[in-house]
Amino acid sequence: MRTTTYGLREAKTAGKKITMLTAYDCPTAKLLDELGVDIILVGDSVGNVLLGYENTIPVTMEEMLHHTKAVCRGVKSAMVVADMPFMSYQVNPEQALLNASRFIKEAGANAVKIEGNIDLEAVRKIIEAGIPVMGHLGFTPQLVNQLGGYRVQGKAPDEAKAIIDAARALQDAGVFCLVLEMVPSALTRRIVQTLSIPVIGIGAGPDADGQVLVTNDILGLYDKGIPRFAKKYADLYSQSRDAVSRFISEVRGGKFPGKEHSF
Ligand code: KIV
Repeated sequence: MRTTTYGLREAKTAGKKITMLTAYDCPTAKLLDELGVDIILVGDSVGNVLLGYENTIPVTMEEMLHHTKAVCRGVKSAMVVADMPFMSYQVNPEQALLNASRFIKEAGANAVKIEGNIDLEAVRKIIEAGIPVMGHLGFTPQLVNQLGGYRVQGKAPDEAKAIIDAARALQDAGVFCLVLEMVPSALTRRIVQTLSIPVIGIGAGPDADGQVLVTNDILGLYDKGIPRFAKKYADLYSQSRDAVSRFISEVRGGKFPGKEHSF
């Protein structure tokens, strides 16, 4: 059965932790879906994780649609949430609605995610059209230039209050769920208790209603460090290096292909 906004709220009420992971392609999405992850996020982190950009800012609507379509082809049960890229929702509420609708209508996503403390008119317009919206507060990567780098948000009391106020405003505007990134655990606890919608944390401590991570981080798919809040459950980069090196050496040494690979 497909994860629904209603089901996520029930999970919060029942104290059942929600799981969310990123995917940018069909086979990864299929794997996550088969293993029962609740939400698959087609994150604009595709920009720095897969496309070679320095951060998420250059990611375009067309790139996000391309990856969202691939993910949707692999998913039967999880809710697919598409990240709206930088400048696809800030210009005016009409632009926000038109772009959000493309993720649902053209790509087959179930919901969209929007970063930051944005124009609530845009959020309301998207929701009124029947498109569920997930909010994202705390550290919001699209605003990295304004936030002065990758740093924990909401440590100072005035910053914490601004995040709590924005979370309440987003809930009142109708968002079904909130991602909270890189904030102190104590602030997460307050927001989880304040809101009736589920709060999904990333670097936000253990008390969020659920957790999200970038799949490539947990699989150890690259040769660089991962953020402190992430956990590497596998080292696929080393395994991939080993496999590729063995292929090269076996071809050069005449060991591959063997009889069993030949006709
Ligand atoms: O783009 C992304 O991957 C994200 C999260 C990890 C929350 O926004």
